[in-house]
Amino acid sequence: METRTTAFKVLKEHEVQFLNTLLAKGGPDEHEYDLFLDFISRVNDEGVKELREAIKPIMNEETMIGFAFVKPYGYAGDFKIIDMIYQKKVNPDPRFTKWDKWYHAQHAAKAVRNRKEFFKSVLAELDEGADHPKEVLILGSGPATDVYEYLTDHPDSGLRFDLIDLDQRAIDYAKEKNARFLDRLNFIRMNVLRYKTHKFYDLIWSAGLFDYFKEKHFIYLLRKYMPYVAEGGEMIIGNFSDENPSTGGMHSILEWHLNQRSPEELVYYALEAGAKRQNIYVDKEPLGVNLFLRVKNPANPFKNPESFISWLTVNNN
Ligand SMILES: C[S@@+](CC[C@H](N)C(=O)[O-])C[C@H]1O[C@@H](n2cnc3c(N)ncnc32)[C@H](O)[C@@H]1O
Repeated sequence: METRTTAFKVLKEHEVQFLNTLLAKGGPDEHEYDLFLDFISRVNDEGVKELREAIKPIMNEETMIGFAFVKPYGYAGDFKIIDMIYQKKVNPDPRFTKWDKWYHAQHAAKAVRNRKEFFKSVLAELDEGADHPKEVLILGSGPATDVYEYLTDHPDSGLRFDLIDLDQRAIDYAKEKNARFLDRLNFIRMNVLRYKTHKFYDLIWSAGLFDYFKEKHFIYLLRKYMPYVAEGGEMIIGNFSDENPSTGGMHSILEWHLNQRSPEELVYYALEAGAKRQNIYVDKEPLGVNLFLRVKNPANPFKNPESFISWLTVNNN
């Protein structure tokens, strides 16, 4: 592969040489993974422009890094890149292979794959027992690979899904993937800020979406959706942790910005939205990089007709 000879002002000569060596062999080898991550995490704003210039031959849709940077669908975290992370897509072209392997070895990519497994285990728990059908609402459903894998493994599932996504291309992609299961899936193209329903859901799930919302919208959405949780049901919102070790690389080289949060912040949001403390819990996938705010509507044995709001401290209507 062509090496870069441009004169750099911020990057030191040995750093450019390091990058040229990586380019020449199609990406870092495993023993260089941390070195490359440290390097891209440390580099300042000026340096990052030079860094991108230095590795320009891979900053295109051929690689995971390039795809994440270019954002061909116009925004970070589109259905395609998320599905490529799920599939651990590696370009077989030797100019790109090791770059893709590096990408998939990062904590952030692993956490995305872990959250899919986490969601599938939540679905399995919900599916157990006789009370069918159970209703699931997904906010920002993207490729719906999680649903596809779950239903493939549980063809007799009693779950029904409403899937909301703003991007018609994501919905088309998810529909094609889930073609066998369309009788249980209802896709809705809409902004989650605007969706209205009179239905109660046993589970309201969202991952990879609230990380893009500011505090104000995060709390607004909790307040909006919590009253739709059925008795005994739950709302689970994924959000990347502020201790994500991939943060530096995601922000600098990829320009992939998330509002990463602590467990305490997530609890605070739920309280602000009106949930009672005893119904709030913060969970995480095995790496602790993707956190999950869980707000439960406890089962009400007395069947109070107003129970759908009484489990909250404020009337959200
Ligand atoms: C990072 S993907 C996550 C997909 C899926 N939840 C997952 O974890 O695999 C985020 C999805 O949310 C959608 N999205 C972003 N903003 C939205 C909004 N305001 N309303 C509805 N969908 C939205 C995007 O189109 C994208 O498909």
